[in-house]
Amino acid sequence: MPNEPYLDASVRWKLKSGRIAFQEPRTAEVVSNLLDLGLVTEVLRPIGAGKEADVFLARDGPRWVVAKSYRLYRTSNRSRGAVKADGMGRLAAQEFDLLGYAWAHRVPVPEPIQREENSFTMEYLGTPEAPAPQLRATLLKDPEQFARTLLDSIVSLASSGIVHTDLSPFNILVHEGQPWLIDLGKGLRVDRLGWPPWAQIEQARTSLVRGLDSIRRYFRRYGLDVDTGPTLTTILQRIDEEGRSAALE
Ligand SMILES: Nc1ncnc2c1ncn2[C@@H]1O[C@H](COP(=O)(O)OP(=O)(O)O)[C@@H](O)[C@H]1O
Ligand SMILES: [Mg+2]
Repeated sequence: MPNEPYLDASVRWKLKSGRIAFQEPRTAEVVSNLLDLGLVTEVLRPIGAGKEADVFLARDGPRWVVAKSYRLYRTSNRSRGAVKADGMGRLAAQEFDLLGYAWAHRVPVPEPIQREENSFTMEYLGTPEAPAPQLRATLLKDPEQFARTLLDSIVSLASSGIVHTDLSPFNILVHEGQPWLIDLGKGLRVDRLGWPPWAQIEQARTSLVRGLDSIRRYFRRYGLDVDTGPTLTTILQRIDEEGRSAALE
């Protein structure tokens, strides 16, 4: 028996359920794919690699951009081969679209630029020296003010019709002293109801409670007890009115 490689729980689950044999394309392939798709003209360096996506600092002509490429998984079972690319293309499309709605509403998110297949480009947040740090790795000068702005941004995101389902100090960047929300891929549209409003609201509530809690815990390191209750109430009440975010504005 060969040694089993370490696999995280989600991958193990997928293997067990027989849906995929896990095999990532090499980084070089991802990079050449980004170039082939015409999304970027040069890839400078990786700046993030999560479970599902690779994130690179890149150039699109003279402009510095960030390219996010959802990973493709290869299926072992040929008859189910279509699962992979479609799934990842859908995630990229969803994140790209949500960024578009949020950005159009002036929510502090990176401007989405272009999407092709499982990848898209967006505005680079950072300086020529370094990308904007994640909130978790930052020492804030004025944490109280920052917390207020952050909560306002979360309300404003909901006003644009989106509830972020993965809010945490990992997915908030500090750029020019302000909070920026990223990683909207699994966001919930709360203004186009695909199923009954109560289900949507329940799901939004669960994610928001978790996200706001993670933010509250973060600010304890500054000795602050940020009251996130009113933010939650404001967002949920507004969604509740007809279950449409149009009622938010
Ligand atoms: N627009 C951006 N500008 C600068 N850095 C970014 C940008 N988008 C993502 N990053 C960096 O890449 C990391 C991973 O991006 P994210 O969208 O959170 O992907 P994942 O789904 O892998 O968590 C972020 O935590 C951040 O450090
Ligand atoms: Mg993230």
